[in-house]
Amino acid sequence: MQEVKKLEDLNIPVSQSTSHIAETVVSSIHEAEAPLYIEFSNKNKKDLKETFRNVDFKNPKEGRYAKIFNNYVKKFEEKARDKGIGILMTGNPGTGKTFFANCIWNELKHKNRVYKTSFGKYVREIQDKFEEDKYLERVKRADLIILDDLGNEYFKDDERGSWKKEVLFNLFNTIYENEISLIITTNLNEEELKKFLEIKGSYKVYDRILEKCTAFNFDWESRRAKLYETEMKELFRLPG
Ligand SMILES: Nc1ncnc2c1ncn2[C@@H]1O[C@H](COP(=O)(O)OP(=O)(O)OP(=O)(O)O)[C@@H](O)[C@H]1O
Ligand SMILES: [Mg+2]
Repeated sequence: MQEVKKLEDLNIPVSQSTSHIAETVVSSIHEAEAPLYIEFSNKNKKDLKETFRNVDFKNPKEGRYAKIFNNYVKKFEEKARDKGIGILMTGNPGTGKTFFANCIWNELKHKNRVYKTSFGKYVREIQDKFEEDKYLERVKRADLIILDDLGNEYFKDDERGSWKKEVLFNLFNTIYENEISLIITTNLNEEELKKFLEIKGSYKVYDRILEKCTAFNFDWESRRAKLYETEMKELFRLPG
């Protein structure tokens, strides 16, 4: 109460000042825990280099997506974070889905708790450590979850398969119930993704994703074959 008295003495409306203090405290929690989430995340040398500064466009749609994703980053804290609004990137291999997910991650990861992983890695870690609750707590406290390459895991029709499905459901349920923003990249089309996420005959998980994520389809050809074309031609031509 001593602090309120001081603020009153300064003739600053108390409600305005305290809400400012609250905002600062909240934003510092996101920022303070951000390094922990960088640590938790699945990353390699390439992921760190993929930023909006390195975007190049091969077609107008890709250019539009780059602007939209850049805008998402700029508005994330104000418009997306507390509502759990996210992005679903679908499309063929090599079209740049992971690239754009990394661009977003590299922009947001220092000020927000961004957990970038894949479902496969998440399941493996839980299986190795028997700590699903700990991982779900990590998910619960995140501001954004990035699940790269969803859909390439196989659920066998056995006990392990149903355990994996349960892990999948618990993960998505935690994300949904805690209104955490989610970015998914996948090679599956929307119908295939719906089937992949089916649990006990229900499409609840898929419905929940669509409620909060806007879908972007990457329907152009892969860049991979042409990526190092010049270097490889130079390296492997006959000398002389
Ligand atoms: N807009 C872009 N600007 C610059 N480089 C890009 C862009 N899009 C993709 N790349 C590069 O092209 C390669 C393939 O992209 P990426 O790995 O993101 O594809 P993907 O859609 O995630 O493929 P997959 O479905 O197989 O995971 C990468 O080396 C990436 O760095
Ligand atoms: Mg990818």
